[in-house]
Amino acid sequence: VPGKGLPGPVWMSQYACQRPTPLTHHNPSLTEPLEMLAEAASFEGSEGRFLSFRRAASVLKALPSQVTALSQLQGLPYFGEHSYRVVQLFTGIFGVGVTTADRWYREGLRTLDSLQEQPQRLTQQQKAGLRHYQDLSAPVQRSDVEALQQVVEEAVGCILPGATVTLAGGFRRGKLQGHDMDFLITHPQEGREAGLLPRVMHSLESQGLVLYHQYHHGHRADATHLSCHNHAMGGFEMTFCIFCLPAPPGTAVGGTQRAVRADLVVVPISQFPYALLGWTGSKHFQRELRRFSRKERGLWLNSHGLFDPQQVRCCPLPCSLEMSCAGPHLPTGTNADAP
Ligand code: GTP
Ligand code: MN
Ligand code: MN
Repeated sequence: VPGKGLPGPVWMSQYACQRPTPLTHHNPSLTEPLEMLAEAASFEGSEGRFLSFRRAASVLKALPSQVTALSQLQGLPYFGEHSYRVVQLFTGIFGVGVTTADRWYREGLRTLDSLQEQPQRLTQQQKAGLRHYQDLSAPVQRSDVEALQQVVEEAVGCILPGATVTLAGGFRRGKLQGHDMDFLITHPQEGREAGLLPRVMHSLESQGLVLYHQYHHGHRADATHLSCHNHAMGGFEMTFCIFCLPAPPGTAVGGTQRAVRADLVVVPISQFPYALLGWTGSKHFQRELRRFSRKERGLWLNSHGLFDPQQVRCCPLPCSLEMSCAGPHLPTGTNADAP
């Protein structure tokens, strides 16, 4: 029984159906913001966070008095550790998205060590991500970009003279650091770029530069099909890589090697302007640009082209890019919203 001071922690069932939830209670100034956070999480599609906030609000409604000190929350269900930090830790692993991180959390996993002990849970990509976790959590610098661009250009130039390597992603928007580097490879003659990527990767591997890479075949004939479904994943030939580069001079690990993430994408020249726009980002800017195109211009934009839905016959009929492309008239030097 609490004395004259602040009421101490109370015991409470973790189930809302086993405790009173009065219509008027003592903590609306806390439950209302928690319910707003729950709603926001739900809009973002984050069911886990929605439930956490919702349950925490419900617990507070059952308290016999107003909460005035943090100590009163001790031991209450849903006021302990929040999943956010663990989910953030796990999504820091290359190849782990929010869904996987949240599932691991709900299955009781909390640390990178606990994941390492269960390799059967992990894809090859996630294993590589875990192996290089520390290196990959350090930002990529401009000097890394220059170093990698040079070796990629050399390999590309040897295999297919005339082919070009263009930096996209955050660095093209002027960022000084990034989580990876994004390079687009093309050739001025349509079709010459086909099949280039495996040969480039083979060359880079033989130089000992590749720690991991995951090759994706393109779906060249399906460019308009992709537009119909607004695919997030492009249909280009691409690879998500981890390269081994000399650490930038002057850093703590200067002189030694370290792992960096890079995406290499091979693009036919006819789609290059759209690919460059799409891969320059930011994700938010691209999403808005696509929404604007759809709502205000009635056109579908993706990394392959700008399509008029009136002229695109959606799948299952295959349709050629030429007949449905609204024209390659987008400015290529688009200034995305660099943070
Ligand atoms: P960093 O975190 O510094 O790398 O920022 P960033 O803006 O470079 O992000 P990121 O490398 O993730 O993506 C760059 C742009 O490429 C964004 O606009 C993404 O939407 C786009 N992008 C990333 N992956 C894909 C993909 O698989 N397909 C397509 N079409 N676009 C992608
Ligand atoms: Mn990037
Ligand atoms: Mn990228």
